[in-house]
Amino acid sequence: MGCTELSVLYSILFIALPFFIFPSASGDLSYSVPEETRRQFVVGNIAKDVGVGAQSLSARKARLNSEDGGKRYIDINLNSGDLIVVERIDREMLCGSRINCILNYELVLANPLEVHRIFLNIEDVNDNAPKFANERISFEIGESAIKGQRFHLDEAHDFDIGQNGVHGYSLQKNNHFVLSVKGNTERGKYAELVLEKELDREQQKDIDLILTAVDGGIPQRSGTAVIHITVLDANDNVPVFSQPVYKVVLVENAPIGTEIVAVSAEDADEGANGAVTYEFSRIARNEAEIFTIDKRTGKITVSGVIDYEEDTHYEIRVQAKDGSGLASTASVIIEITDENDNAPKIILTSVNNPILENTIVGTEVAIINVQDKDSGDNRQIHCSIQGNVPFKLNPSIKNYFSLINTNPLDRETEAEYNITITATDGGSPPLSTSMTIHLTVSDVNDNPPVFDQQSYTAYVMENNKPGTSISSVTARDPDWRQNGTVLYSLLPSEINGLPVSSFLSVNSDTGVIQAVRSFDYEKFRNFKVQVIARDNGSPPLSSNVTVSVFISDENDNSPQILYPAPEGKSLMTEMVPKAALSGSLVSKVIAVDADSGQNAWLSYQIVKSTDPGLFTISRHSGEIRTQRDITESDNMKQNLVISVKDNGQPPLSATCSVYLLISDNLAEVPELKDMTYEESNSKLTFYLIIALVSISTLFLTFIILILAVRFCHRRKPRLLFDGAVAIPSAYLPPNYAEVEGAGTLSSYNYDTYLTTGSCTSDFKFITSYNDSTLTAGGTLKMPQNETLAANLITLNNSGEGDEVRNCTCPYI
Ligand SMILES: *[C@@H]1O[C@H](CO)[C@@H](O)[C@H](O)[C@H]1NC(C)=O
Ligand SMILES: *[C@@H]1O[C@H](CO)[C@@H](O)[C@H](O)[C@H]1NC(C)=O
Ligand SMILES: *[C@@H]1O[C@H](CO)[C@@H](O)[C@H](O)[C@H]1NC(C)=O
Repeated sequence: MGCTELSVLYSILFIALPFFIFPSASGDLSYSVPEETRRQFVVGNIAKDVGVGAQSLSARKARLNSEDGGKRYIDINLNSGDLIVVERIDREMLCGSRINCILNYELVLANPLEVHRIFLNIEDVNDNAPKFANERISFEIGESAIKGQRFHLDEAHDFDIGQNGVHGYSLQKNNHFVLSVKGNTERGKYAELVLEKELDREQQKDIDLILTAVDGGIPQRSGTAVIHITVLDANDNVPVFSQPVYKVVLVENAPIGTEIVAVSAEDADEGANGAVTYEFSRIARNEAEIFTIDKRTGKITVSGVIDYEEDTHYEIRVQAKDGSGLASTASVIIEITDENDNAPKIILTSVNNPILENTIVGTEVAIINVQDKDSGDNRQIHCSIQGNVPFKLNPSIKNYFSLINTNPLDRETEAEYNITITATDGGSPPLSTSMTIHLTVSDVNDNPPVFDQQSYTAYVMENNKPGTSISSVTARDPDWRQNGTVLYSLLPSEINGLPVSSFLSVNSDTGVIQAVRSFDYEKFRNFKVQVIARDNGSPPLSSNVTVSVFISDENDNSPQILYPAPEGKSLMTEMVPKAALSGSLVSKVIAVDADSGQNAWLSYQIVKSTDPGLFTISRHSGEIRTQRDITESDNMKQNLVISVKDNGQPPLSATCSVYLLISDNLAEVPELKDMTYEESNSKLTFYLIIALVSISTLFLTFIILILAVRFCHRRKPRLLFDGAVAIPSAYLPPNYAEVEGAGTLSSYNYDTYLTTGSCTSDFKFITSYNDSTLTAGGTLKMPQNETLAANLITLNNSGEGDEVRNCTCPYI
């Protein structure tokens, strides 16, 4: 402001100077004329000023000489004496920037010569605008330039001077810069750009400002220049992620190379400052193995195994960094979704193996635990048992199941089970796992031994060697080991008063039954024993079976001739009437055989006779008959030797002699004495015997009748053949004693074959025996003689026997 005032003062001073300082004492004239004045402009009237008449000027040859002989610019109008402008005056051309621009002239007048100095002061006119040397001013300013920083601007130039020179500058309004003007009018004014607000290349990287320079003239003139500011980048921007957090969902087991997400960060800087690279800034070691980030593109890809079961969630920090290391981070949250990639797992927590076969239904046999690492439906597990086994799974707490048996078990039916448990999850597709529990059923002694047969029958030949195996029993027990090991033994009992062990023994392991003693068929024919099969369990189970032992007959007894007495001992002589006709029965040989069956089938044969043609013997009945009529010429004493043979193999035989006396008169009997081979017995003895025998026979008959009457109605006839010959049991051989005890041998009839084939027989020999006679074994045993005497037979044709025909021999 002060400067402006000062310059005005100066200007006034300069303008006034020509008029007051330069009036020529010696006639010097001074004029002022503004530059660029039009031609003919009258600067002044020189005639007047010099004091000569205008009309005389021409006469005086007035002339204006320029001092330096250059252009004159002004001239004298000789008519009027005015000093006029004749040429364009450009102060700036004449004087440049000199402040005083004065042209010197000499006015020369002749007649008289007169010379006046004329000073023409050229006044400045604001005819030039300020001008910048460069219309475009370029700056490169770093965006990091601090506030207050100054930038020198080129001065504007104005050819005008003084007030008309550059007076000031102005700057287009803008956000960043202000102008600071320095200097003064004389030395020129210049301006500086002052940074008032920091630059941001990222906001505006080029700034164009119009700088205006103005002068102080009136009218004011101005000139402009464009300031072009290029904002240079400074790495003042960190890369910025498009999102602070990237959330993505990734399925597990995504293949390697799967792109998960591409993070991106922008850096507003340019060049290297804006070149962003990506990396993981914080990542766990395991995560680093499964994720990779592309340094350049920011793509995150799978590079390892994504396992939901290992981690369901990853949070990775990603860093974006520019070229000079400015960085920022973002989070990438990766949620893994489950895939059904884990089959269920079956864990056998506990098992009762082996399991007892008598385990009650519903017993917990095993506990299993199922697991599935997946989640959601993928871990919903369904368990089932394959196949048809008597077990089921009961859900227990949580993932536990109890395996229980649904049916009773039987080791003997099924000793082991393979229980296959399948666990299936609820995924799609579902996965499943199977496990087989091998369960063994252990034995309980629940089966008694069972014999192969309901009963056994053994046959043994009599006269066996002690120790002979007669049979074997087998019992089976399906239990295991000792529970199924069968041991055999005899049930202690008595047979005929003797312990069974004295008859038989059984091999405890094999069940083979052996005879301990030699058996005699004639003593007993069969008996029964109980064999026990017992297993070795604890407690043992047993069962028993009856073994019936039948003793088979062997031909070990020769026929025994009851009548007549065996050869050499006979006292008997049969009387044959002289008039006996052919076919008359004269006697009968009675023999018995203690054996039975074929072995007791006796056949009779005459082996030797006095007169071979006279008598025959019935092969089967032993009846001796005449073969022809007796004649006088026949020898009175006939002697027959008869052999009795059984049918055994080999046959056994006995012989006896029969003495026959052909006579009608007992008186002839004394002659018998001659006939007898044994003379020892006297006739008296013979008669005595006959008497005794008769009495005995009568007595016996009487007893038999009583007994018969008593028992007649009790029993049916057992064996009574027509014409049967009953023999008093008392006369049976001693070894016929009946065995009592087991009951199986209580009695047997001894009438077989005895009279077979003798239907027409007149013999009625009634047998009756009772306990006392039998068990006595010998109490009624008579002396041999008596026995023989008892065998005297009542020959009875009257049919007396019919009375007892239907009587039976009672048995006990
Ligand atoms: C159980 O499986 C085993 C071996 O796999 C096999 O030897 C056995 O015979 C199977 N038992 C049954 C009862 O299936
Ligand atoms: C036999 O059965 C008993 C139970 O009656 C049992 O304790 C034992 O283990 C069984 N023996 C064998 C060898 O299986
Ligand atoms: C023999 O077996 C029968 C049934 O089989 C039984 O009643 C009896 O008690 C058993 N006897 C012995 C001595 O074990």
